Amino acid sequence: MVFKIGLLGLGTVGTGVAQILLHPQGRHSLVSEIKIQKVGVRSLDKPRRVDLPLDLITTDLEAIVMDPEIDIVVELLGGLEPARSLILKAISQGKHIVTANKAVIARYGDEIYSEAHKQGVYVLLEAAVGGGIPVIKPLKQSLGVNRIRNVMGIVNGTTNFILTQMSSHGADFNDVLAEAQKLGYAEADPTADVDGLDAADKIAILASIAYNGRIKREDIYCEGIRNISAVDITYADNLGFVIKLLAIAQKINPDTDELQVRVHPTLLPKDHPLASINGVYNAVLVEGDPLGQVMFFGPGAGEGATASAVVSDITNIAGILISSGDSKILDPLLSSDHQHYCNVVPIEKVETRFYARFLCNDIPGVIGHLGTSFGHHNVSLESVVQIGMRDHLAEIVVVTHDVNEGDFRQALEEIKTLSAINTIPTVLRVLHS
Ligand code: HSE
Repeated sequence: MVFKIGLLGLGTVGTGVAQILLHPQGRHSLVSEIKIQKVGVRSLDKPRRVDLPLDLITTDLEAIVMDPEIDIVVELLGGLEPARSLILKAISQGKHIVTANKAVIARYGDEIYSEAHKQGVYVLLEAAVGGGIPVIKPLKQSLGVNRIRNVMGIVNGTTNFILTQMSSHGADFNDVLAEAQKLGYAEADPTADVDGLDAADKIAILASIAYNGRIKREDIYCEGIRNISAVDITYADNLGFVIKLLAIAQKINPDTDELQVRVHPTLLPKDHPLASINGVYNAVLVEGDPLGQVMFFGPGAGEGATASAVVSDITNIAGILISSGDSKILDPLLSSDHQHYCNVVPIEKVETRFYARFLCNDIPGVIGHLGTSFGHHNVSLESVVQIGMRDHLAEIVVVTHDVNEGDFRQALEEIKTLSAINTIPTVLRVLHS
């Protein structure tokens, strides 16, 4: 049986997908049953690194999603439009979808999956989170019988590379970002990565699978790494922590439907399983009942790794089509049919520890004033350390016990009004081991 695919996009990942499909030797036998029917590109003039017959390549993307010969549309364009419209049109034509596009799924997943369900087609997205790391299918299939307590991960390679470089060279964010851009690790416009938006798209997808419900993308609290300084990395190190950009989905109380979903830089104890994930690597730690913890680790981006995930989705669909024939009944372990929205609680309701750095006028009693203001708002302190002087100001670092984020923010508002306080350069959340 031959399955015909229409490839939308022949950039880095598209090229990797074509390379696998054009060289099936030594791979699963289903790979040789996948035929590239058409490839849609934005421009025909761009040089290509893959040996495809020229008559397969077209700029008419619409024609690909309407082509009655094509069984599976593989969307590798990225971005919201025209990706969303092309996916919906392909679904309306009864085509299965494989995509690596986390942004379009995180924002329009409800619309896309509703249509897919109506048409009896699959929308698979293994490559959208963690690049080559198999995490979507294991979470859905192998771990689905667990009650998931946490899914948390380092799911953005660019920011992990930047934080790792800052940590190992004591360099500041802007210098490392410029270096990463020169080396081609960071995009010319790094916003989606460094502001945490890419990680938020990815945790929306993971949370939706882990907690069997839709996630409103705008409910996800999201903070990036632009404000992290070499100073904080050093202080964190002295206190026994590393700083990582974490994407977290957590169910604190199994008896309620309340879910926390958030992305922010986090102080992680050095013995935490995610603390040693460095460079461009990604990892996702899942904790469930009765399973306990498992961690998925590997290359979170890159041509070959991401293409591996894309082609595995294509062969999954091919395998199902072979065994189920023309049946429109979707395999519940591969499809997503949940309709309800998860109850994502606002960040003010989260209970967490905090690290905060203050620059204060060096006057007697300043630490006492800080402690009093925190006390007014039920914020219990684990440690308060005066580090030394910076720019003629006393530098004080505070680590709290677990506190309510709303209370902590109110305490900060009060502290800002104290005459002894000059600035609060950094506030970060701290995770337990
Ligand atoms: N920009 C992403 C990252 C690539 O840095 O991880 C894959 O999603």
